[in-house]
Amino acid sequence: MKTFIQALPKVELHLHIEGSLEPELMFELAERNHISIPYPSADAVREAYQFHNLQSFLDIYYQGANVLITERDFYDLTWAYLLRCQQDNVIHSELFFDPQTHTERGIGFDTVVNGIYSALNDGQEKLGISSRLILCFLRHLDEASAFATLEQALPHKDKIIAVGLDSSELGHPPEKFQRVFDRALAEGFLSVAHAGEEGPASNIRDALTLLKVSRIDHGVRCTEDEALVEQLIKNRTPLTVCPLSNTRLKVFDSMAQHNIVELLRQGLCVTINSDDPAYFGGYMNDNFIAVANAHSVTQNELAQFTFNAIDASFVSPQEKDRLRQITQSFLDNLPV
Ligand code: HPA
Ligand code: ZN
Repeated sequence: MKTFIQALPKVELHLHIEGSLEPELMFELAERNHISIPYPSADAVREAYQFHNLQSFLDIYYQGANVLITERDFYDLTWAYLLRCQQDNVIHSELFFDPQTHTERGIGFDTVVNGIYSALNDGQEKLGISSRLILCFLRHLDEASAFATLEQALPHKDKIIAVGLDSSELGHPPEKFQRVFDRALAEGFLSVAHAGEEGPASNIRDALTLLKVSRIDHGVRCTEDEALVEQLIKNRTPLTVCPLSNTRLKVFDSMAQHNIVELLRQGLCVTINSDDPAYFGGYMNDNFIAVANAHSVTQNELAQFTFNAIDASFVSPQEKDRLRQITQSFLDNLPV
């Protein structure tokens, strides 16, 4: 199964680029930018990654991002992720970035987006990996800050396909950002939101109705509302599920208890994603392998995660067909 997973073409729809910052690169950037890190080594940084919930992770994650200063830093971060995509046979990726994590520290919005975008262009050109960029608002910050961020994004509309909502879900429900999302939608952005990760199923309902999202990020707590599950199936609303993240952040006690396979078999449009791979112990293949190790899944079911992600992606119908053909031709040419 491991060989099959490695070779299976994959599409990632839930990846925070800041969450792909490996400790080694963190040290390299800290040195380059003369910033001190409160750990003696990359291994010591990794050992500190013990989380008991979302907030305990976020505190460390925002701290890690402090080493990102220049456009080149954002380029290097994104390029390192794309090389991992290549290794894992990820053919298309839709990445989140958190501009407020950087603008709050005095880094220019343009520095962030230009660095990331230029690496994504090179990823397409040199590695053949297509991508889209999604701007996430930090939900623990206020509406005014989100509006200011949206304003800064307007000159970069050509580079950003959608807006999203991440950070602390508890205490910061979707309705807090309804007006910002209304404005973003009016400007032509698509929308997504983290919902039903630590928060209740009602956040998923509210993200759909108030924020008009095209996909739900995480969404695993939908099962607490049977009527909602029926609605998600009927509308084929995609859920971008992150198995290793969910176990590391104790959304589920173990991978065996994770509901992703059950959701897939119920007919939901679920996908597998890595979320913050440098913090949660793995990239796309590791997530697929962790699911396959804990649940008995068939090759067709694993491939269905890719087909679901293609359906759920923000590319043109022609581009979706191209991605489907790559995946189908892999399946058709499997040794018997
Ligand atoms: N949830 C909320 N905010 C985040 C996450 C997540 O999984 N990863 C990075 N920011
Ligand atoms: Zn996330």
